[in-house]
Amino acid sequence: MTHDALAPAADQARAIATVWHALFWPNAIIYFAMLGALAWAVWRRRNASTDSSAEQSRQARRWTVALIGWTAFIAAMLTAYTAVSFVQDRRLLARDSDALRVRITGKQWWWQVEYLDADPSRQVTTANELHLPVGRMTRIELVSDDVIHSLWIPALNGKQDLIPGRKTELAVTPRRLGRYRGECAEFCGLQHAHMVLAVTTESPAAFAAWLDAQRAPAAAPASASALRGKQLFESGPCAMCHAIAGTEAGSHVGPDLTHVASRPLLAAGALPNDRAHLAAWLANPQAHKPGTNMPDPRLTPAEVTDLVEYLEGLQ
Ligand code: CUA
Repeated sequence: MTHDALAPAADQARAIATVWHALFWPNAIIYFAMLGALAWAVWRRRNASTDSSAEQSRQARRWTVALIGWTAFIAAMLTAYTAVSFVQDRRLLARDSDALRVRITGKQWWWQVEYLDADPSRQVTTANELHLPVGRMTRIELVSDDVIHSLWIPALNGKQDLIPGRKTELAVTPRRLGRYRGECAEFCGLQHAHMVLAVTTESPAAFAAWLDAQRAPAAAPASASALRGKQLFESGPCAMCHAIAGTEAGSHVGPDLTHVASRPLLAAGALPNDRAHLAAWLANPQAHKPGTNMPDPRLTPAEVTDLVEYLEGLQ
């Protein structure tokens, strides 16, 4: 997953990178030119002979001209920097009327992602993953349920805080297909480092297909073991916090698990998403993400196997 502010994949990150390059390269050149001038001045002083008074007054005039030139140069550079910053800032604030609407809620320590729709039955809720179509702006509404978080997807845009009781917004217009890593950039507690948002930018057709698949209810259990897993999920502690569309489980305290098997990561990036890690996670969540709000579900090894069988079928 790309995680690089200087490899921009969206208009907004490109605007930020443009400002960065526009400030960095001229300043780097000026810095080394200053060091060179300093070295030259020291060397020249050592080798200076006693000048005549005519020579001294000619030098004074040269210095006056040089200082005026230098001041004008600094003023021109500062004006150019301000202009670049102003123009790129407008690009960050631009909003398209046909933008896709997404709401991301920061939680300790994961992201709830909702694709908003005028028709509530077409709304999609997922966790810790964000799919975006390329070539179209997505306006991401940012809210927090608990403490201040900050969403940062370096390849797509800058940081934006998520503040309890307030709405903030981040717009992204992806231009390249790819997979990008987003994180929480504001210290928010024990597992601040495990708040990964896996971002996929894809063609409009692939995005529409993904969104349709997300709207579908969860897959039915495909084996006797998976069926036992489903029953355990609905009757046991899992359903107290999690939702799986099309089942009895409908709580939204923890991540929605309707299509959990299709996600790349578990527990907001604490573990890769495969059978072995899911089994380890279910057997002892605190061992893999100390402080997580998921309590030890106290499952027998057979129950873990059934649950893994069921959850890994939820593509
Ligand atoms: Cu959420 Cu740091």
